This record gives sequence, structure tokens and C-alpha cells, in this order.
Amino acid sequence: MAFFRKLGDRVVGAPSILSADFAHLADEVERARRGGAELVHFDVMDNHFVPNLTVGPAVAASLVAATDLPVDAHLQVENPDSLIPAFIEAGVASISVQVEATTHLHRTLDMIREGGCEAGVALNPTTPPEMLSWALPYLDYVLVMSVNPGFGGQRFIPEMVEKVRRVREMCDLPVEVDGGITARTAPLMVEAGAQVLVAGSAVYRGDPAVEMRRIIEAGRAARV
Ligand code: DX5
Ligand code: ZN
Repeated sequence: MAFFRKLGDRVVGAPSILSADFAHLADEVERARRGGAELVHFDVMDNHFVPNLTVGPAVAASLVAATDLPVDAHLQVENPDSLIPAFIEAGVASISVQVEATTHLHRTLDMIREGGCEAGVALNPTTPPEMLSWALPYLDYVLVMSVNPGFGGQRFIPEMVEKVRRVREMCDLPVEVDGGITARTAPLMVEAGAQVLVAGSAVYRGDPAVEMRRIIEAGRAARV
């Protein structure tokens, strides 16, 4: 495991299952893997924290069994603490919680790490990065949302480039970016310090292998 801790300074791509065909999840992930994906971004939504509903631990367990790639659960739910044990049990590699939905963040992050997973915090577009300052020792990565969580295919919020830069000034942790990431926006985020490029609609609107590779290459080109 330890995907984020072993990243070094590499830039990697992660398909978001939200835009995939849920009836063929393993195949959809495999298609993106052929395009160089190294992580699966697994969006969990509860129709409370966000106005949308997706999948839970049972589907995560099936996907973990069906792919060699590590699965990264992005919990966009109220009260994530009650679901975390089931995702740990499902075998996901990492779990991020939305800081806005978490009452006792330290306890939540502790629970994730105690379960052998890497711990991340996701920040809504208007949530200041300073919210994380006292949590940094308990984090393995930071997820900067570049759209409002809930749906795929929304427009990239350009101010989030500067936010990635601010997070990177605060800490050395890998930054994952999620929302409106395409071959056009990925370089902006990488240039600001992002390393994990999550993309849903931009990957699954065409041939996922081709689209995933295009995004990863565009991001990596911004590094040199
Ligand atoms: C949104 C999800 C994202 C979503 C991104 O709440 O967290 O992972 O799939 O979709 P795109 O890449 O289409 O903006
Ligand atoms: Zn997500």
C-alpha cells in the first residue's frame, strides 16, 4: 500500500469512476489503466453532503478484488466516521473525507490510519487551506476540489490553481486535484504543485486509455 507516501515527485493519473459505466466498472478501470492510470478514484456520495448518490463499501470491495490498482475512496458524505470501518474492510488503499463534513477530524484521520489506509482531507472550493494546519501530521495527502462536489462534468474553478500553490507552501504532502481536470487544466494544476490528477468526464467521454494518457502527459509536460 502506501501509494501517496511513495509517490516521490511523480505526476500520476486517476480515473474517477463517477463518469464510468457502473455496470462494467472493472473494465472501465482497466481501460484507463491501459492509458497509464495508477490509482482508482472512488467517489462515494450520500445525498446529504452532496445532492447525489453513488456506491458504497460493497462495490468498493468488488472493485478492489477486480483490479491491481489501489483504490482511493473519496467520501462525500455526512458523518464519514460511521462508514470508514466498512471501507477499510473493503480493502481500499486510501480514504479522504471532506473537512466540512467532519466534526472530529483528528479522530477520523486516526481511524483511517489505524485501519492501515492512507488518510486524506478534501477541501471544498471555498474552504481555506488553513483549516488543515493542525492536521498536517496526521495526513498523507490533501485533495483540492476544483469544482463543488456532487457531479462530474462541471466547469473548472480557476482560483483553485492558486489554492494548490498555497497548500504546497504549507506542507510537503502530495496534492490530489479533482474536478474539471482535462489536458488543458492539468498543466496549470501541476505547475502549481499538484501530483495526482483525478479526471472523470474527460476520461470517459472518449476512449479512456487515450484520454487518460493525454491528461497524464499534459500534466507531466508542465513539470519540465
Ligand atoms: C465530484 C467528484 C469527482 C468527479 C469529477 O464530486 O468528486 O471525482 O468525478 O468529475 P470531472 O472530472 O468530470 O469534473
Ligand atoms: Zn472525487
